[in-house]
Amino acid sequence: MSEPSRTTPAAYAAPTSQARVTVPGLHTMARDGVPIAMLTCYDASFAAVCERAGVDVLLIGDSLGNVIQGRSSTIPVTLDDVLYHTRCVAAGAQRALVITDLPIGTYQESREQAYRSCVAAMQAGAHMCKMEGGAWLAPTVEFVVARGIPVCGHVGLLPQFVHAYGGYRVQGKGEAAAAVLRADAHAISDAGAALIVVECVPRALVATLASEVKAPLIGIGAGPDCAGQVLVIYDVLGIQPGRAARFVRNFAKGAGSIEDAIAAYVRAVKQREFPAAEHCF
Ligand code: KIV
Repeated sequence: MSEPSRTTPAAYAAPTSQARVTVPGLHTMARDGVPIAMLTCYDASFAAVCERAGVDVLLIGDSLGNVIQGRSSTIPVTLDDVLYHTRCVAAGAQRALVITDLPIGTYQESREQAYRSCVAAMQAGAHMCKMEGGAWLAPTVEFVVARGIPVCGHVGLLPQFVHAYGGYRVQGKGEAAAAVLRADAHAISDAGAALIVVECVPRALVATLASEVKAPLIGIGAGPDCAGQVLVIYDVLGIQPGRAARFVRNFAKGAGSIEDAIAAYVRAVKQREFPAAEHCF
């Protein structure tokens, strides 16, 4: 897909249509340069608030391990955990497209294992499944997509790889690492991924990816050149123990309500005010 056009709707207004956001609908938004606002969500009440605030895509992230379960990584999260939260979110979501993140150990072993996990997520109410990985994961993405399940890839910083990295680190820095990341994004896109989350990657590299990769990119710590943005909802609401990551902005500051804070996030994404330079690598 060519680089999303940078035309910003002059005055963004939260959607009034109750029509469900679909995969072709997201591709039309990306083609037309209408930024996609995605947030993580873990329950029905927040799903309803997010929708009222205009969020297009709700992700049941395995970040629930951190923000719901209080663990230090996403690694303890199980398929049953994400299925439970998918059922909760799906019960509250009327309009947003729902994506379920597959936890570690539920898709890496074989294409068949990945397909079975995706089916469980779709039966719990997901419209798309997300998996972390580069070129090695492409045959699995192709297998699942061929069987009618939309897939969201995830390249760059892969939180399930935290112990392999030795911490949470920006990925794709330097020529060799950038070449690997480019190859990963191309492989996942060519395998048929409908979207690709790009996490913690220098913005210059993401701008290149956005201009040459077919699947729309959804950035988190990846700069403004993506077709859309995603954040963990607790970060948007300023609820996090310790220091916030560089790419996070607390939208609750100055907001009168939770819905106002989420609407401010959506507006900032739609008007391309977020992420700003200080949120980029
Ligand atoms: O688990 C998660 O919440 C995620 C997003 C931050 C992209 O993968």
